[in-house]
Amino acid sequence: MKVLITGGAGYIGSHMGLALLDEGNDVVILDNLTTGSKQIVPTKANFIEGDISDINLVQRVLSEHNFDVVTHFAGSIKVEESVKNPLKYYENNTLNTLKFLKCLTNSNVKKIVFSSTAAVYEEKKSGLINETYLCNPSNPYGRSKLMCENIIQDLSKSTNLKYFILRYFNVAGADPQLRSGQLDEKSNHLIKVCIDCVLQKKKWVEIYGVDYETDDGSCVRDFIHVSDLISGHLLAVKHLVKGGDSDICNLGYGRGFSVLEIIERVKKVSKVNYTTRIVGRRDGDASRIVADSNKMMTKYNWAPALNNIDTIILTALNWEKQKFKKIYET
Ligand SMILES: NC(=O)c1ccc[n+]([C@@H]2O[C@H](COP(=O)([O-])OP(=O)(O)OC[C@H]3O[C@@H](n4cnc5c(N)ncnc54)[C@H](O)[C@@H]3O)[C@@H](O)[C@H]2O)c1
Repeated sequence: MKVLITGGAGYIGSHMGLALLDEGNDVVILDNLTTGSKQIVPTKANFIEGDISDINLVQRVLSEHNFDVVTHFAGSIKVEESVKNPLKYYENNTLNTLKFLKCLTNSNVKKIVFSSTAAVYEEKKSGLINETYLCNPSNPYGRSKLMCENIIQDLSKSTNLKYFILRYFNVAGADPQLRSGQLDEKSNHLIKVCIDCVLQKKKWVEIYGVDYETDDGSCVRDFIHVSDLISGHLLAVKHLVKGGDSDICNLGYGRGFSVLEIIERVKKVSKVNYTTRIVGRRDGDASRIVADSNKMMTKYNWAPALNNIDTIILTALNWEKQKFKKIYET
């Protein structure tokens, strides 16, 4: 297969590149390097620096290569930032995806795997969220992504575009071979921030509220290892390439961990104690988001292999140590 990965210099897209290359596929990466880095672009991938909204560039890339499928990861991903600066999210996630889709409709590529998010769902205070649950995002990030989902689905009805929308829960961990991981030092993912404290890059972890309606009062999230997330993408890609129908699936483990539980687990796995500070609630945060991913498992035989919070933390810690060492040495 030949696959275009937008956002392939980012955390998740770089893992997708590695997995596709590991299976002997051809990979082209298009990324504007706003949050991504060339350092994690797989060496065997063909890298093009550019923006998904650059119509001339995208059209040229699509016509020069004979792609079987496009995997669209490029986007902006911070919930809190989206509350403060919604236009950035409607522009980079929605408008730029629309421009990209316009190029796609004018090309021979008729299959897209789209990175969506659990943030499209309405908050559910108990139980698991499956794909039929109400979509009603609580922040501009979720809305910007839901708009993309709607545009893709409408386009699929009016053209022969087939899509596979994957709604991710909280992605964490690093490639077990440590070829890639979270490189964005501004990333505010909880496990990354805890590990930054372990490595004394940050002084404390801020806890955004302990007054939620959860067992210990802190927010609850479903953490999925990035490699399991990617194995779901490989199934989605193969399904579309084989001529399968469009679909939407969740990718999570169905088990929630609270912020306080994660803080303790990182201390235990790393054997390092660090400081925490309870600060106020953050705008846009839902109290609890936990996935029902049965559809992906039963319909597409998705079999997560790293469903263990300590494994997630350990791979992230090992990646960060290696990265820290490299930065320190240079
Ligand atoms: N990380 C998570 O927990 C999570 C959860 C749900 C959904 N997602 C989705 O997964 C996708 C990838 O997220 P990530 O964690 O790898 O983030 P990331 O910031 O590491 O990667 C995004 C990549 O897209 C690139 N990019 C952004 N805008 C672009 C544009 N206009 N043109 C070209 N390149 C552009 C960035 O440079 C970066 O390399 C995003 O679409 C995000 O919404 C992530």
